This record gives sequence, C-alpha cells and structure tokens, in this order.
Amino acid sequence: MPLGAQKNMDIIVLAIAILQVSSVFSEQDVWNTCPTRNENPVGQTCQKACTHHGECAGKRQCLCDGDCGMSCILIRSCPWPVAIENAETRLVTESKNFGDEMLVMCQPGFKMAAGQEMTLSRCQGDRKWSVTAACEETFCPPPPEIKDGYLVAVKKQEYEVSEVIYYLCQKTFYLDGSNSVTCQTNGTWSQTPLCRARCKIPAQRSRVLYNGKKLWITEIPEALVTHFEEVTFFCRNKNQQCSYPAPSRCFDGVLPVPECYEEPTWIQYNFFPKNVVSEITSCQES
Ligand SMILES: *[C@@H]1O[C@H](CO)[C@@H](O)[C@H](O)[C@H]1NC(C)=O
Repeated sequence: MPLGAQKNMDIIVLAIAILQVSSVFSEQDVWNTCPTRNENPVGQTCQKACTHHGECAGKRQCLCDGDCGMSCILIRSCPWPVAIENAETRLVTESKNFGDEMLVMCQPGFKMAAGQEMTLSRCQGDRKWSVTAACEETFCPPPPEIKDGYLVAVKKQEYEVSEVIYYLCQKTFYLDGSNSVTCQTNGTWSQTPLCRARCKIPAQRSRVLYNGKKLWITEIPEALVTHFEEVTFFCRNKNQQCSYPAPSRCFDGVLPVPECYEEPTWIQYNFFPKNVVSEITSCQES
C-alpha cells in the first residue's frame, strides 16, 4: 500500500475507534455532568475542590477533573509520547493538555483490566494520563462441546489467541459449518459447527429422484440420505392421472413428505406396480 493510502487507513481506523469508545462515554453522560469528588481516586492526585473559577488562585480554572470532580486546574500538558506495554497509543487531538485524550489500543491477544480492547486515556489535572496500562493477556475458555461430534484437541484450562481446534462428527453425521474454531482476540471462539443427522426416506412403495437417478427406496442403502440432500417424490394428478415431481430436502434428520404424496398400498405396489404413482405418465409428457 502506498504511504498516503496507509495513512488514510490509519485515520479511518482511528476515527472508528474514537466513535466506538466515545459512544460508551456519552452513554454515561460524562460530557454533561462531572462526577462528585472522590477524595482518593486510584492513580490520580486531586487539586483543590471548587464550584466556580473565583475560588481558584492565579491562572487556575474550576474544571472537571474526572473522579476528583470540579477542581482548580492549571492547564498544563501531560507527557508524550507514552509507551504502554502490549498496547499502541495515539493522541486524539494534536495537543496533549489537560482534558485532551489519547487512545490506548491493546495489541491482539491483550485487553484492558476491565475487559475492553481499547479505551480513552485522559490528561488529568495532576499531569498524568488516566490510563497507563493495558495488561492483561486474553485467553479463551475450553471450546464448547458439540452434540453428535467431538473435539480433536488436548484438553486444557485455557487457550491462547489464534489457537485453532478441530471438530469431527460421529460417523454418518454431516459436519455443517467450519471444521475448526479459532480463539479470537476478544477471548471468544469463532462459530462452532453442528453435526447434522441423516434422514430416513419416509416412503417405501414408489420411486424417488435422488442424486439424479430414479430409484426404488430399497435401492438406497438403508433408505438414508445425507443432511441437506434433496429427494424428489412423485405425486398424482387425480384428474389427469399423471404424476408430477414434489421435491423435499433432508434437514438434520427430518425429510418432510410432500403433502401431495400418497404412499401406494401394499396391494397396489405388489399387484399393480405399473400403476404406482412414480410409474405412471408424467404430467409434463401427456
Ligand atoms: C468477539 O469478536 C468476534 C469477531 O470479531 C465477534 O464476532 C464477537 O461478537 C465478539 N464477541 C464479543 C463477546 O465481544
């Protein structure tokens, strides 16, 4: 990618990140209300409390300083650049003065102590950033068990990000989805597959279209078809005494019989086989 394009991408990524983070903040109405003063907030030294500028000496102004509440603040800058282990830092604005913010984005596989992958760090009245650590490595819990299938993996308490685990289905079951799951950067597994059962064809005495062939049910081993395979039955048009196709599809053990299908009787099947619904003239031909 040319340098300019990369820079544009960076700006887009940054903009999206700020939107995501700030939407969380705005829910808490941080912009409109200042927290009431907490005398000993973690990682912050409070300045003199105030309710209006007149209570502050010199160039100090009465401003909201996070958990310290309204405080007499001298607008000064916070250190920059800031190195945070396992995270990338970017200034949201060009300045790094009181109230300005930097975005702290965890590297893949790491998260903040509260669990999120990025956060805004604010330049406080004590000239320190509100967030100075990313920390924690992300792990995934053991991947979920699946019905009629099993995991091909060594059982562990936790799995690292990017680890891949494979699934297999019991014999005769069809694996629907990806045969593997990956531990994602947010500590969850990607979509797990499902093991789908075969379907028993719910008919015996007529032919069906299956895999492009017109077959008697007895010609299909155990009368079983695989998940998502199509079986076309034949129905009778009683006025014209001709047959027309009615498709159905196997879904996880269930192959619905088309409503129009009527199973030939034992007598029809054994003594008048030429008159069985699948053997009479097709309505299309007549
Ligand atoms: C985790 O990340 C994946 C992939 O980005 C996403 O689809 C999923 O919704 C996330 N889950 C949580 C709980 O955030």
